[in-house]
Amino acid sequence: MSHFKCLVTGGAGFIGSHISRRLVELGHEVICLDNFDDYYDNRLKEDNIRPLLACSNYRLVRGSILDEKILEECIKDIDFIFHNAARPGIRESIKNPMLTHEVNTTGTLRVLEAALAANVKKVIYASSSSVYGNVDQFPLKETSPTRPISPYGASKLCAENYCEIYREVYGLKTISLRYFTVFGPGIRPDLAISIFTRKALAGEDIDIFGDGNKSRDFTYIDNVIDANILAMTRGMGVYNIGGGHSITIDELARSIIRLTSSSSKIIYGKNVPGDVERTMADIDKARRELGYMPKVDVTEGLKKYIDFVQANRP
Ligand SMILES: NC(=O)c1ccc[n+]([C@@H]2O[C@H](COP(=O)([O-])OP(=O)(O)OC[C@H]3O[C@@H](n4cnc5c(N)ncnc54)[C@H](O)[C@@H]3O)[C@@H](O)[C@H]2O)c1
Repeated sequence: MSHFKCLVTGGAGFIGSHISRRLVELGHEVICLDNFDDYYDNRLKEDNIRPLLACSNYRLVRGSILDEKILEECIKDIDFIFHNAARPGIRESIKNPMLTHEVNTTGTLRVLEAALAANVKKVIYASSSSVYGNVDQFPLKETSPTRPISPYGASKLCAENYCEIYREVYGLKTISLRYFTVFGPGIRPDLAISIFTRKALAGEDIDIFGDGNKSRDFTYIDNVIDANILAMTRGMGVYNIGGGHSITIDELARSIIRLTSSSSKIIYGKNVPGDVERTMADIDKARRELGYMPKVDVTEGLKKYIDFVQANRP
């Protein structure tokens, strides 16, 4: 197998660090560009990359995708870009839409510009199921309407559109992978699976926004990483990357309580704006065109994640 030079933006974050690890294991050369933003505790990002820093085919650059000079420097001679840098919070995007737009949309545009100038082989963009919003056709197909209901969803959709435009108008190869609620070791601390697991292990009450009937297609991280590797050689355009079925938030909380043998109670609260009712990916296109096949389902993924958290408890 050929070895390539890869840039992972947001490479110290949850998904970016897993992509970096897989690329390093496959023998590719990896540059991680991350500005260690203030969205959550940076010690978690330092933990994500610590084992990678010892690898001779891995280099960390602390800087922003919005810094043209650093970006240009990092993209020189790069074959593949895995573009994961973003402000990923839905609620934060409602409070600060400008920042979300700047990093997620303008940042992506800068990455595409630099990629085009540097003759990069392909840009693999981390898009999101949030681009769909509240749609009433399930499962969600890539051709389903896109009506985001948060600035975050709008910023990801706009960036995805730029990826398409750079492909069609300028001839830069791009692919957008619409991730559906990703979880696993190193998960962002603001996501429900992380919060519920911490609370369950501490025996504290678990707060759910709303009545718990919202549902999500939770996708284990290894499946998402497989999709990124497949996307290096296959596919162009937009693909759903999900687990292919969904469970309610209530079922999620109950599974976590059961798997941790916890005594936590579930408390139902108010709905919050920006949260869609339901997500469930139709992954047929990714199956056919990328050869994507989710290997770890949500139950097995939850067991793996909880085992990881228990093994790494201080
Ligand atoms: N986690 C999910 O369930 C999920 C679902 C759909 C899409 N996504 C997308 O996947 C990508 C990764 O998400 P994540 O959950 O790993 O989030 P994360 O916050 O853990 O990772 C994002 C990383 O980007 C870095 N970053 C932010 N602004 C930057 C900038 N200006 N320059 C360089 N680096 C910057 C952050 O420091 C962070 O390390 C994001 O694009 C997100 O929108 C995630």
